[in-house]
Amino acid sequence: MNRAAVAAGMVLAIGAAAYVALNRADVSAGSAPVIAGAPASADVLARGEYLTRAADCVACHTVPDSHRPFAGGVAFKLPFGTIYSSNITADPRRGIGGWSDDEFVRAVREGVRNDGRHLYPAFPYTSYTRLSRSDVLAIKAYLFSLPAIDQVNRANELAFPFNQRWAMGFWNAAFFKSQRFVPDPSRSAQWNGGAYLATALGHCRECHTPRNLGYGLDHGHELAGQELQGWRAYNITPDPTYGIGSWTAAETARYLRTGHVDGRASASGPMGEAVAHSLQFLTDEDMAALVAYLRSLPPDKGEHPIEIDSQAPPPAAAAPVQDASGAQARGFELFEGACASCHQWDGSGRQSSYAALFGTRGVNDASGANVTQAILQGVNLRIGDSYVYMPAFGRAYSDTEVAALANYVVSRFGGKPATVTARDVAERRAL
Ligand code: HEC
Ligand code: HEC
Ligand code: HEC
Repeated sequence: MNRAAVAAGMVLAIGAAAYVALNRADVSAGSAPVIAGAPASADVLARGEYLTRAADCVACHTVPDSHRPFAGGVAFKLPFGTIYSSNITADPRRGIGGWSDDEFVRAVREGVRNDGRHLYPAFPYTSYTRLSRSDVLAIKAYLFSLPAIDQVNRANELAFPFNQRWAMGFWNAAFFKSQRFVPDPSRSAQWNGGAYLATALGHCRECHTPRNLGYGLDHGHELAGQELQGWRAYNITPDPTYGIGSWTAAETARYLRTGHVDGRASASGPMGEAVAHSLQFLTDEDMAALVAYLRSLPPDKGEHPIEIDSQAPPPAAAAPVQDASGAQARGFELFEGACASCHQWDGSGRQSSYAALFGTRGVNDASGANVTQAILQGVNLRIGDSYVYMPAFGRAYSDTEVAALANYVVSRFGGKPATVTARDVAERRAL
């Protein structure tokens, strides 16, 4: 969706919503299902730590390599400006040390600060609203048990009217319902646990569900894929061709725990972070519940269907036919010099179980979105005791070179005529 359209949509949404009756009552008290990794019987700090991980609070509230966990300052570039996450350590002046239980619960479940002002939905209170009060308070207890960090919040950089926090009240009226998770009695305890993990804690839909013109989630196409911060968060419905319906339950679980399944997918960018900070720590039981829930959803083709070419590329390095611009040959040359050592010519990544390229959604996406992002940003994840590492090539190569590489990778491993231009690369760099 184009940025101007999103911005215009948001203005419209704010305007239209002014006429909508407010619908913000606490609709139901709900009751959280059993989460195996955080049983109610466990010590509150242990529960809080597990839930904080499952909700991935650290990813958005910690600047990478800053060694200042939960002190905020992470930038979120949205179509209408930049928002910075807040210091949520217990520092009484700079953080939230002075907040009461009720204030914290209101912030997490309704997106309202202790001073009554609205938070922006870059903070996924739209998903956390489903959390039970006791789970939110366990998270608070855990956060407040950690060292307080004296770090001042960075001011957001938003253009009018988006810098008007009160306007979020209207956005909430249009797109947000303060509503707790209510277990579905017709489903198993496992399914309900998985639903709570996916929709309340893991907030999968904040990245994987398409958004409408007003930046609200399009619940008619739950998890059918969207683009965020330059990355494509793929369709993860059980559609056998365009989603992950052809994956076995074990493959999905392995992907969510390790970020990689040979011949299927690898996680970099925001998903790599979700795996590294959050999903790898789920217990086996919770992982099985999450996967069972995903597999129970209705298949959806999604708006940007990407089909996987499962025909393996020829193993030997063969110089491509020279095209008029020489771009293919340039891509080949760069791949040979900088990439084949890890990924191998056939994309099998033989020397590292992590470096297989062949068969992934990324290399089959003719837009080259995530392939370009991976080349620009590299990969740097800690999974279990090992590091998954690919250097970032953004500084080493020009826009034209990155485009040539991305097009080479997509055409060789996905068999698709890729269309990445130097301009696309420049745009992704700016995100
Ligand atoms: C996807 C990113 C993201 C995740 C995940 C996230 N937050 Fe935030 N959070 C933000 C952003 C961005 C803001 C600032 C929003 C604003 O300024 O309107 C924020 C603001 C807050 C605030 C308000 C603080 C203040 O001083 O106003 C609290 C409290 C908070 N987050 C707690 C949490 C907790 C607890 C979790 C995990 C359960 C969490 N956040 C997970 C992005 C995130
Ligand atoms: C912060 C955004 C974000 C969140 C939260 C998130 N994802 Fe993702 N997800 C992505 C992106 C981006 C990709 C593509 C990764 C890549 O190409 O390296 C992805 C890829 C995937 C894939 C691989 C699909 C394929 O065809 O290759 C699966 C499966 C997946 N996510 C499941 C989940 C589940 C389940 C959750 C919630 C527990 C979740 N994701 C939460 C952004 C996110
Ligand atoms: C040091 C080894 C190494 C080098 C060199 C390297 N990569 Fe990678 N690459 C990796 C690893 C490891 C991953 C992560 C795979 C994962 O997360 O499962 C990866 C991931 C990727 C992905 C994401 C795959 C997907 O479908 O999401 C692409 C695309 C990629 N590399 C392309 C390249 C290109 C092009 C080059 C050369 C410019 C290159 N790589 C150089 C190791 C390397």
